[in-house]
Amino acid sequence: MKLETERDAAEWVYAAKALAVVSAWNALGVFDRLRKGPLGTGDLGLDPRAVATTLPVLKFLGLIAGDARCLVLTEAGRRLMDAGGMPSERNLEALRDLGNMKAVLREGGPVKGDDGKPKGTTGGTRADDPDYTRRFLDMLYQGSGAAAQSSFDWLSPLLPQGGRVLDLGGGHGRYGRAFADAGYPTTLFDLPHVVAYAKGRHGTALAYSAGDFHTTDDFGGPFDLIFMANIVHGEAAEDNARLIERAARSLRPGGTLALKDMFLDEHGKGPENAVFFGLTMLFYTQHGSSPTLRETHEWFRAAGLEGPEVTLLDTQQLLIGRKRA
Ligand SMILES: C[S@@+](CC[C@H](N)C(=O)[O-])C[C@H]1O[C@@H](n2cnc3c(N)ncnc32)[C@H](O)[C@@H]1O
Repeated sequence: MKLETERDAAEWVYAAKALAVVSAWNALGVFDRLRKGPLGTGDLGLDPRAVATTLPVLKFLGLIAGDARCLVLTEAGRRLMDAGGMPSERNLEALRDLGNMKAVLREGGPVKGDDGKPKGTTGGTRADDPDYTRRFLDMLYQGSGAAAQSSFDWLSPLLPQGGRVLDLGGGHGRYGRAFADAGYPTTLFDLPHVVAYAKGRHGTALAYSAGDFHTTDDFGGPFDLIFMANIVHGEAAEDNARLIERAARSLRPGGTLALKDMFLDEHGKGPENAVFFGLTMLFYTQHGSSPTLRETHEWFRAAGLEGPEVTLLDTQQLLIGRKRA
């Protein structure tokens, strides 16, 4: 994705329009209805000119086929719906928020909503809004099956038999659960309102510890593995340094600290997901950003950890550090 020619700029505008059209059709439930069977444009209950104008976009994208009397979802559209990957209401909200980029550049994030209040969250959750928190954690849970498995595949060979695991900022608990199911006693640490959600999902399969990782000195170790997935991008660099230092103290000598996240290269120009995810953190957290790999080396060194070794894990990176034995 580059901006080198006028043609590139036009493609970007098309992409933004396409995102708005697809998200709105999905948010209005049309794709769900098409999953059940063909529909005519007259059945949609939408403005005829708006339908006639947006339909060619959806056909061009390969999501819908057929004519005005018999619209059908294509195989690609069905597959995206099944995988939960079709853009929807969240993307429309993100587009609205991105329209406030000038204000964010002048005043800093988080972005403000229509009511003038900052839209910051705590790692994506809101203690005062259980519904919002549940939707967010459900979405992360659904999207993390493959990553939980590959994290487990990389990290479990480093564990002694029956080794203790801490899923720090574990949220929905899918990562921790992969270790617990394989016989490693696993504790999920998170804020109280998130622990309540995780208990509902996993019951006694996990142990739980509720608290604030900024102020907790003892995570209940010693652990053989402390795993932090998608945590450091939500925090300020100095808080990450302190958190990793305290986490390292809760490790057994020889134990492993692993971070799964998106890290910028030392020139700050890639990879793509880290570059763009930084914007999400700017818009929706108080201090978050995509850290550079170079910064993480400093955190590990200051915490007395060897490493980190960097492994590519799907589209993210897995950083593995060891406490000296
Ligand atoms: C982006 S979610 C990641 C959840 C899970 N680890 C994953 O990768 O899908 C960030 C998690 O960090 C937790 N979190 C944020 N700030 C925290 C704090 N101060 N103390 C404890 N947990 C915190 C959030 O509640 C949330 O569950």
